[in-house]
Amino acid sequence: MSDRSRKDECCIVITGAGGGLGGALASAYAAPQTHLVLWGRNAARLEETGEICRERGASVRTLSQDIRALSAVRERLAELDAECRIDLAFLNAGVSSGALPDGDPEPVEDACRTMEVNALGNINMAAFLAQLMRGRGGHIVCISSLAALYPLPDSPAYCASKSALAVYARALRAAYAGTSVRISIVYPGYVDSPMSRRLLGPQPLRISAGAAASLIRSRLEAGADDITFPFLPALGVRCLNLLPAPAASFFSRRFGFKVRPDDESPARG
Ligand SMILES: NC(=O)c1ccc[n+]([C@@H]2O[C@H](COP(=O)([O-])OP(=O)(O)OC[C@H]3O[C@@H](n4cnc5c(N)ncnc54)[C@H](OP(=O)(O)O)[C@@H]3O)[C@@H](O)[C@H]2O)c1
Repeated sequence: MSDRSRKDECCIVITGAGGGLGGALASAYAAPQTHLVLWGRNAARLEETGEICRERGASVRTLSQDIRALSAVRERLAELDAECRIDLAFLNAGVSSGALPDGDPEPVEDACRTMEVNALGNINMAAFLAQLMRGRGGHIVCISSLAALYPLPDSPAYCASKSALAVYARALRAAYAGTSVRISIVYPGYVDSPMSRRLLGPQPLRISAGAAASLIRSRLEAGADDITFPFLPALGVRCLNLLPAPAASFFSRRFGFKVRPDDESPARG
């Protein structure tokens, strides 16, 4: 819960803040005069991140809310904004799914859930936040993925969902051009996190969540609005799109992987 007046602090909302990249972003931004809203579903993990951030001098509020509950999410955002005027929001919450370790294809239920969280849940937040910030300014950062830039056969819904979010955010940026609403998109390669630890296969140039968070912060502060990293995987993905389809498919399969199902997957049981 909040514990003092927020109007004079920089208010930052981070979804998926209970660990991984979101937890690292929270630590990277935790400082005095900063109010962090740590958003997720697992209250205990959010509280763990919160403790680290409080030790760094930030004031912290944790908020447990599934981002798939679209109208409830808009209500939460409106309440937060009335309380502390959101300056910066990292739309980082996400799930991954794909081909199963036994070689079975991605379960349909997982594909739909991935689209609901990564695409619809985040688009709902981006659209509503942009309207809240219209006229007074603010910054929305959408965490997409390098997977948005090439359709990987092992994770169709993840690629589609991250691509949907990125394309939506690019269009939103164009729609708000000339206003003080800034919209940035981050396309990370492999980042060490609970999500990437469920992937079985090569993860070239995987970096730590802390390194990814500081890189994102420094590039945003330098004014970048399309952030891809690491350099070589980002270049490789762009090259795939220039190759004839059979050649691109050949190379992309060399980096194929399987995905261990998460707790919500029907394949778990
Ligand atoms: N790891 C990588 O290699 C990689 C690469 C590119 C992009 N990304 C993206 O980076 C972001 C962070 O991922 P990560 O690697 O840090 O994975 P992670 O540790 O699994 O974090 C994902 C977070 O999203 C939250 N979340 C999931 N479903 C949610 C829902 N329905 N409502 C609210 N929160 C929800 C989870 O919180 P709860 O458990 O509390 O629900 C979790 O904290 C994701 O968008 C991911 O797609 C990751």
